[in-house]
Amino acid sequence: MKKLEDYVRCIPDFPSKGIMFRDITSVIQDPDGLKLAIDSMIEAVRDVDFDVVVGTESRGFIFGMPIAYALGKGFVPCRKKGKLPCETVTASYALEYGTAEIEIHKDAIKPGQKVLLVDDLIATGGTIEACAGLVEELGGEVVKILFLLELAGLKGREKLAKYDVTSLITYEGK
Ligand code: PRP
Ligand code: MG
Repeated sequence: MKKLEDYVRCIPDFPSKGIMFRDITSVIQDPDGLKLAIDSMIEAVRDVDFDVVVGTESRGFIFGMPIAYALGKGFVPCRKKGKLPCETVTASYALEYGTAEIEIHKDAIKPGQKVLLVDDLIATGGTIEACAGLVEELGGEVVKILFLLELAGLKGREKLAKYDVTSLITYEGK
């Protein structure tokens, strides 16, 4: 019986030399891998009291949506800047070179709502920290953050010290 980590393809030197890319496409293209990943993520949050899932574009959509569907919650996309049609709040975060911006619709999170944040992977933590900030700006409470993969060597968790963070697979390196 294959374990979840057996479905993750590891590609050396992508996107640049020295980086080991952890590829989730090999997980989700396999019916057993897809089922194991989604079922495992659902089980990790089944007992969490939350109202809505927020997933970050784009890989956070892949994993966040089925969790929301399975647990009977709504799904809110946190999108890259310029994609959402209504009024938004925007946050910027650091990339390796430069910055990026993400947005959430202002009316997507109601004050006091309990929010589960979902993404495929935590590296530096910049993306999810920015997303959590947007949820809080709108009065939401981040009750849990869930990742499939964590690159522990990049210490993203340190940015998320005040949150309840779970990763299903942890790689010690970068
Ligand atoms: C990747 C990944 C996470 C983020 C993690 O997304 O899916 O969202 O980087 O990195 P961080 O913890 O250092 O912020 P990417 O921006 O590559 O876009 P994608 O999801 O659209 O592929
Ligand atoms: Mg992403």
